Amino acid sequence: MSYNLPSFPEIPLINGRVLINGTLRDSGFESQPVHSTCDKDQAKIIGTTPHVSLVVLMEAVESAAKSWNKGLGDWPTARMEDRVRAVQTFRDKMITQRELVCRLLMWEIGKTWADAQNEFDRTIQYIDDTINEVKNLDRESSRFQFSGGVMAQIRRTPLGVTLCMGPFNYPLNETFTTLIPALIMGNSVVVKIARFGQLLWEPLLEAFCEAFPPGVVNIVNGKGREIIGPAIQSGKIDVLAFIGTSRVANQIKIAHPQPSRLRSVLSLEAKNPAIVLADANLEIAASECVRGALSFNGQRCTALKMIFVHKKIAAEFTKLLVKKIDSLVAGMPWEPGVNITPLPDPEKPKYLKALIDDAVAKGAVLENPERGGKVKGNLFFPAVLSKVTLDSRVAIEEQFGPVVPIREFDDLREVEDYVINSPYGNQASLFGENPQDMGTMIDHLSNQVCRININSQCQRGPDVYPFTGRKNSAEGTLSVYDALRAFSIRCMVAAKQDPNGRKVIQDVLHADTSRFLSTNVVL
Ligand code: G3H
Repeated sequence: MSYNLPSFPEIPLINGRVLINGTLRDSGFESQPVHSTCDKDQAKIIGTTPHVSLVVLMEAVESAAKSWNKGLGDWPTARMEDRVRAVQTFRDKMITQRELVCRLLMWEIGKTWADAQNEFDRTIQYIDDTINEVKNLDRESSRFQFSGGVMAQIRRTPLGVTLCMGPFNYPLNETFTTLIPALIMGNSVVVKIARFGQLLWEPLLEAFCEAFPPGVVNIVNGKGREIIGPAIQSGKIDVLAFIGTSRVANQIKIAHPQPSRLRSVLSLEAKNPAIVLADANLEIAASECVRGALSFNGQRCTALKMIFVHKKIAAEFTKLLVKKIDSLVAGMPWEPGVNITPLPDPEKPKYLKALIDDAVAKGAVLENPERGGKVKGNLFFPAVLSKVTLDSRVAIEEQFGPVVPIREFDDLREVEDYVINSPYGNQASLFGENPQDMGTMIDHLSNQVCRININSQCQRGPDVYPFTGRKNSAEGTLSVYDALRAFSIRCMVAAKQDPNGRKVIQDVLHADTSRFLSTNVVL
C-alpha cells in the first residue's frame, strides 16, 4: 500500500461514542475533552471521549454475556466461515477509515505519520494473517484422530466474555492483536479503550456495528481505575486480555471472585537490555541502540531501556551514540523526517526529568547536556546518561520514554546478574561477533528472556513469531498462531473405535446435524 503524506494534518472535532449491544450511543455518559500535546500551548481540544459509569460498563458486559449466552449464543456456536466472513467485512470497512485513524494517531499520541501508517497497515496485515491461520486451524480440526481404540475430533472452542484493554503506545494495533483473535474464535468482547489514543476508535465504530451481530463487540471508555475492578468483581468476565503494567494486571486479576476461572492474556512492562560486547560492530550497535531506545520516543514495551557496553569500547560507543541521537529531528508528528515527537502524557516530562536528576546525583553523566533532557511543550529531547549506577531509578524503573542509560562493564557476570535479578524477562539485544562469547551469552540469556536479538534492536514483529515474556513481563503468548489458542480451549468428541462408535459418528456427519462434529472446512 502506498499513500501520500496528507498536506493538511487537521482533523475534524471528534465526539466519541460507545457501542453497546449493537447500538451506537452518544449520550448517557459524561464526556471529557481530549487534548493533544502536539500543540504549542498544549491546550488544543481535538474532541471528546466518553467516560462511562460502572452502570454503563456493566450494560456492555451484560450485552456480551447475552451474546455469549452461556456458550449457546449464535456467535460462539457459529460456523467458522460465518465468523471469518464477519471479520473480513469489518476489515474491508476499516480500511476506508485509514487516513482519519492515522491522523488521529498523530494528534492523539504523537506518532509520526510514517509510524501511524505502519501501525494501521500492520493491523490490517494481522487481521489478514489471522484469517488465514484460523482457516488452517479449522482444516486441521476437521480431521479425526485415532489412538488407543478411541477416535476423536478435537476443535478449539471459545472461552466466554472477554475484556480487552490495549495500551496507549499502540492503541490500535495491540488492542486488535487480542480483539481480533478473541472474536474470530467465538468469544464476545468488551473493549475498554486506552488512556491516550481514544478518538481513533470513533471512525471504526460503524464498521464494528455493521459487521458483527449485536452484543458480540462492545466498545466503551472510562476511568479504568474506578470501573474495571468492580466489573471484574461481578464474576461475569471470563477472559482478561490486558496490555499495560503488571501492577494494574495484578489488581484486576485478584478482583475476580474466582481468579482461577479467569483466563489471562497479558503483555506487560519490560526493561530490555542491550549488551554490547568488546568486539561489536560499533556502527551497527549504535544505530540499532538508537532505534531500539528511541523509536516512538522510547514508548515501546520492547524498547531498549538499559545499555551495557564493554569498558574497552564504551567511550567510542557513547560518542557515536550521542552523535546519532543529537542528529535526530524533533518536531510535530506530521513533519517529514521527524524522529522525536511530543509525548502524549502531559506528566511524563516531569517524571523523566526526575529520573535524570536521580541518576546524575548518583554519579551518572549527562552526555548531551546541550539538548538532552530539554523540554519544549511536551517534546522531550532524548537524554543520554553514561556511568549509570545500578541503584539509580533509571536502571530499575521502566522509563518508557526518551532517556537512554548506559553502563560500562568489565565482567559479563555483572550484566548477567542484572538480567537474572530483573523482575522482567521480555527480550535482550546482544551485539558482538565472537562465536564463543556470543554462544555463551545466548545460552545464559535464553532462560531469562524470550527473544535474544543478535546485532539488532528488540522488537515484537514479525507477528508470526511468538511474542511473550517471563516474570512480570507477560502471561501467555501473542503471535498470529498463538493468539488463536490463547483465546480458546480444546474440546474433543471421542468415541470407541467399535461398530457403535463408528455408526453414531458417521450418522451425525451424514445428517450434518452438528457444527462441532463435522468435516466441513472453511475454504
Ligand atoms: O509496546 C510494545 C510493543 O508490542 C512493541 O512492538 O516492537 O513492534 O514496536 P514493536
